[in-house]
Amino acid sequence: MSEKTILRALKGERLPVPPVWMMRQAGRYLPEYRATRAQAGDFLSLCYTPDLAAEVTLQPIRRYGFDAAILFADILLLPQALGADLWFVTGEGPRLSTITDAAGVAALKPVAAIHETLAPVYETVRILARELPRETTLIGFAGAPWTVATYMVAGRGTPDQGPAHAFKDADRAAFSALIDRITEGTIEYLSAQIEAGAEVVKLFDSWAGSLKGADFDDFAVAPAQRIIAALKARHPGIPVIAFPREAGPRYSGFARATGADAVALDNSVSADWAAAEVQKDGCVQGNLDPRLMVSGGAELVAETRRIVQAFAGGPHIFNLGHGITPDADPDNVSRMIEAIRG
Ligand code: CP3
Repeated sequence: MSEKTILRALKGERLPVPPVWMMRQAGRYLPEYRATRAQAGDFLSLCYTPDLAAEVTLQPIRRYGFDAAILFADILLLPQALGADLWFVTGEGPRLSTITDAAGVAALKPVAAIHETLAPVYETVRILARELPRETTLIGFAGAPWTVATYMVAGRGTPDQGPAHAFKDADRAAFSALIDRITEGTIEYLSAQIEAGAEVVKLFDSWAGSLKGADFDDFAVAPAQRIIAALKARHPGIPVIAFPREAGPRYSGFARATGADAVALDNSVSADWAAAEVQKDGCVQGNLDPRLMVSGGAELVAETRRIVQAFAGGPHIFNLGHGITPDADPDNVSRMIEAIRG
């Protein structure tokens, strides 16, 4: 049996047809997801019930035959495992207890304690490793430390990550201690996912774009570099995808600086620019505008083909620039895949 397409692309192989998956492919745009979520009761129960989390992970694979499945979980489970209170307000998003100073960082649980909370996630990975079709790659993930910290400090999503910036600027040593604790927790969390059967891991740094200059180096590049080095030392050859969303020009050189095998591009980046500046260092993933999954039509097909063409000269995994939204039309996903695979 030949190697899985996603793994080949991550090793730097240019494929005639790029493999494809979508961020948030298991999600509210799918009626079968909404049914399973209703069965679970709430979002966190869905994350922590392995049979149901595995079921929603498999739903988009059955419906569309994507080349990869992404573990169904959330980046905020790690802060919860480190001792933060976490809940989701329907229609609004996550809420957490806040950490705003050195004492709050010191009160977190030791990293070794995380597995107690996260054990059901590892069980989901084990189920998926058994049940996925043999050609489908299983991707595990975690939030990158900066993005996770923005939620732990503010206690919720914020438009400009103001509270995390304020903490960082008021007490850089204490904020760095928080980043270090999340970094160490992320290494243990992703290692356990790999041991349970994840074949690739992805680091989501959704708010990397709000870090500038030395802050970007210290809080986006350095933690990713540390996590990737530790994972590769423990699990030689494990491929890592990094997603420093809205990094703009800082996408250039990010794979080299962190040791990532691929960088995921958001849709604010021009595909032609990224083909020249980012893909020269290895595999890229992306970067269709998720709004086209709502609007569809000829523009969806044309944009999909344009992105495939722009990245045809090197290793590429087709994806959206960010997660598919709940108002997307499931038929548009089929149209996108048809435009890629022909
Ligand atoms: O991509 C996947 O399908 C895998 C599962 C996954 C989820 N969240 C499920 C989810 C992944 C990889 C994430 C990552 C995540 N979670 C990020 C980073 C990526 C990004 O989107 O920028 C962030 C910032 C979070 C935190 C989070 N989780 C927020 C802000 C929200 C609320 C916003 C929203 O979309 O509702 C969530 C909830 C969430 N995580 C949902 C899903 C499917 C929707 C929950 C529901 O079913 O009600």
